[in-house]
Amino acid sequence: MNPVILQQPKRLLLGSGCIQQSPAEFQLSGWKRLFVVSSPQVAAAQDGLFKSWRSTGLHVDLFEGIDREPEVALFNQVLTAARDARPDVIIGLGGGSPIDVAKLVAAILDGAQSIREIFGIGLLKRRAAPLVCIPTTAGTGADVSPNAILLVEEERLKKGIVSPHLVADLAICDPDLTMSMPPAVTAATGIDALVHCMEAYANKFAHPAVDVYALEGIRRIGRSIETAVRNGSDRNARADVMLGALYGGLCLGPVNTAAVHALSYPLGGEYRIAHGVANSLLIPHVFRFNLPAMPERYAEIAFALGCSAHASPDETAEAGLQRLVAMSLACGIPQRLRDVGIPETDLPRLAQEAMKVTRLLKNNPRELTPADAEQIYRAAY
Ligand SMILES: [Fe+2]
Repeated sequence: MNPVILQQPKRLLLGSGCIQQSPAEFQLSGWKRLFVVSSPQVAAAQDGLFKSWRSTGLHVDLFEGIDREPEVALFNQVLTAARDARPDVIIGLGGGSPIDVAKLVAAILDGAQSIREIFGIGLLKRRAAPLVCIPTTAGTGADVSPNAILLVEEERLKKGIVSPHLVADLAICDPDLTMSMPPAVTAATGIDALVHCMEAYANKFAHPAVDVYALEGIRRIGRSIETAVRNGSDRNARADVMLGALYGGLCLGPVNTAAVHALSYPLGGEYRIAHGVANSLLIPHVFRFNLPAMPERYAEIAFALGCSAHASPDETAEAGLQRLVAMSLACGIPQRLRDVGIPETDLPRLAQEAMKVTRLLKNNPRELTPADAEQIYRAAY
């Protein structure tokens, strides 16, 4: 068994209604001044939460301007606002974007390092402030992972920061907070979580200690995502998808994702296509490309998606692939790159961009050449 490091938030609250315990949790750590990073939609939907915090004597400063997948300039605005607020703790409340920004603000609040110094793996020396992550979507796993992503404007590429110092002090995963999420966001974020689990399971560096999270995440999301999209107030479906997303997040630190994520980053960076939609567009084609490298693993994924055994692992895996496509269609996600406004002439250049994401491509079951990357984009077109 190869060595692996499992990291989790120091405390993890999980379950319907657990957000009610947040004031007691803050008190336990002596945090009185909260700086909350959020989006306009989430901040409006969670106004009652801020009121309840203030009613217990907590001071709440709110930056609610994360209205897109964030770039470095937007991050710097939040950092300045946070420094002015002199908080005891930084809280990310929302989807992956506000949470990633909160993680990075907490990391370099004291100015000891700049954001551009820490892009990459293991370059952050410490985290300057305590960090709480409260997801209101079920997908990115950002609340439990040691990763964060920002768009670097001048390179038109999303870049990752990976560090054990980005793992939160406290994560509060309350599926009731995801009930106001619209169907399209539920679908895209849920498929993103599913892809985290699938790419961690079918991965060169897959590990038995992580496989259990990955397969259980696939099982829960596979059985409940369509219900969560169709009927957002179904608490059992919401809980299933949130737990699946949490498991997906726990896969990101020790194993991480592979070619689907590498190929999806240029789509987000260049065309601002939502991360989950980009992954959903690419997963069937990367699945098919990778299948010959580890058919047994892809067959296990098919079983976790509810498929029964066929004559060979290849055929079982193929059934899993069909199930995946049917699920994405039922969730109303676009199916082709041409449907999301990407010009076909851009595909070779996108393939060149994707090849730069070596930190993920090294994990892929099959080695990918620039020609392979282009071929996958063409298949998805
Ligand atoms: Fe992702």
